[in-house]
Amino acid sequence: MSAVGVVAAAGSGSRLGADRPKALVELAGRPLVAWAVETLLAGGVDEVVVTVPAADRAAFAAALPGRVHLVEGGATRTASVRAGLAAAGPGADVVLVHDAARPLTPPDVVARVLAALAAGAPAVVPVLPVVDTTVVVDDGGLVADAVPRARLRRVQTPQGFDRAVLVAAYAGLPEGAELTDDAAVVRAAGVPVATVDGDERAAKVTVPHDLHLAGLQVAR
Ligand code: CTP
Ligand code: MG
Repeated sequence: MSAVGVVAAAGSGSRLGADRPKALVELAGRPLVAWAVETLLAGGVDEVVVTVPAADRAAFAAALPGRVHLVEGGATRTASVRAGLAAAGPGADVVLVHDAARPLTPPDVVARVLAALAAGAPAVVPVLPVVDTTVVVDDGGLVADAVPRARLRRVQTPQGFDRAVLVAAYAGLPEGAELTDDAAVVRAAGVPVATVDGDERAAKVTVPHDLHLAGLQVAR
């Protein structure tokens, strides 16, 4: 089974508020995107496509190994993954879509996703339980309802797919559609999505505090 990784790295990182695109922000001296690519390769992915902001291609090329293929991303994550998938080429059996913003994802998570695909799942996502009491509030901010959390899960990346399944799902998605993740794209096409254990270390860097926490994880 050959696997291609598509890394979504074309966002600006507005909530992080750094002086450069979030994927180029450094963690322990290396850009987030370099960490994300390394974890895919260490976990068993054979080749990697990275979607980048058009203006920053040179900086990404300098930050990544020469074997990584760079493509211009789009205005939304959905558009960026669509572009990355188109550039991934027909050689691979499976595709793993990963956020550059999850730099410390352990390679074990990648391996679990690949194992589920090898066992026949058409789509698989890493998930974690919800540990906090979770409620719905009304327009006035009052608690309207508590949500039983036993079956709730937080969804991470990398998300894995049979390549033909993901290509067909994106082909059937209206141009300009914006979904929060790739599992939602295949679910919209009626494909069942399996789950494997995620990892707290695969947390997404969104706001400055997340980068601070990631820094503590790699500090020695
Ligand atoms: N992403 C992308 N193309 C976009 C928007 C996002 O490839 N047009 C990528 C980001 O680079 C990131 C991942 O999708 O690795 C998850 O998105 P998010 O954490 O929201 O990153 P940004 O959109 O860059 O951040 P923000 O929403 O704070 O601006
Ligand atoms: Mg975003």
